[in-house]
Amino acid sequence: MQKKEYQCRILSGMRPTGKMHLGNFVGALEKWVELQSKYENFYLIADYHALTTNLDTSMILPNTLEMVSDWLSVGIDPDKSPIFRQSQIKEHTELHLIFSMLITKARLERNPTLKEQVKDLNIDAIIYGHLGYPVLQAADILLYKGTLVPVGEDQASHIEITRELARKFNSIYGEVFPIPNAKLTSFARLPGLDGNKMSKSVGNTILLSDEEDEIKKKIRQAITDPQKIRRGDPGRPEVCLVYTYHQKFNSGETDDIYAGCTSGVLGCVDCKMKCAAVISNYIAPFREKRRYYAENVAEVLDIIRDGEKRAGKVANETMQEVRRAMSLG
Ligand code: TRP
Repeated sequence: MQKKEYQCRILSGMRPTGKMHLGNFVGALEKWVELQSKYENFYLIADYHALTTNLDTSMILPNTLEMVSDWLSVGIDPDKSPIFRQSQIKEHTELHLIFSMLITKARLERNPTLKEQVKDLNIDAIIYGHLGYPVLQAADILLYKGTLVPVGEDQASHIEITRELARKFNSIYGEVFPIPNAKLTSFARLPGLDGNKMSKSVGNTILLSDEEDEIKKKIRQAITDPQKIRRGDPGRPEVCLVYTYHQKFNSGETDDIYAGCTSGVLGCVDCKMKCAAVISNYIAPFREKRRYYAENVAEVLDIIRDGEKRAGKVANETMQEVRRAMSLG
């Protein structure tokens, strides 16, 4: 049972995958920006977690800089919210090791994302790091005493493991950690241009940094209702990906689009071009800011280093508390 009162603190993170796409925006970043005005926030770059999918480290720094440029462009304010790399704050590895003693192998083998990852990566041998992935994530969250973790649905099982680890630690060594909650993002996953989950590795994304021409080209190829072959055919917006985009980025016009599509008056090409224009407008301010960061990459790295100093202090305090609770040292 939790007895202490904890201040609401947001902690979330992503693996450094490079340029962000609309799926990242809808699934996470938009929420992060919104939460910033209400609570204290910490935003983590999971560069150690990145090693679970690729041991080649040459792209980690460039991808980190691309990703953080997008975070800044959509409105993450580094003065309010430290942005930092997991690998630069040694306390992540320390707490990870301690947590690894508090959970069984069987429990980690039941983690559904483990099976998915193995399937996605097309490998038959899992490494220790895959198994321990959620243990490291728990350390990420609890080092900062995060109470609320805004993530996509796919991460819910990791937050559950984090809760279990916090409870287990508290029950053995006394209460140090809050029991965090996942804050699942309300808009369902944004589909990619082929109708599957939008994902960089699949190549079905619209990037936040894409110019209007590029967006048009991509949306022109997006799949729509296969039964609507030409203008005049009645379409089914509920199965159409482009309509999903309209719902998200063009909510004011969805009634008209629905009526136009179902009656056949609105053809797919016109509907797509309208959609591309709306999305392009929506992300235009991000693109503008992004150009600035592309020209001032050194500033992005300074922002990260500054975040590491601030986050490092919090992490250090928590680890001191952990050691005290465990009578270590
Ligand atoms: N596992 C998360 C993902 O793949 C990334 C992540 C690492 C994370 N540490 C975290 C998310 C801590 C939230 C909190 O998206």
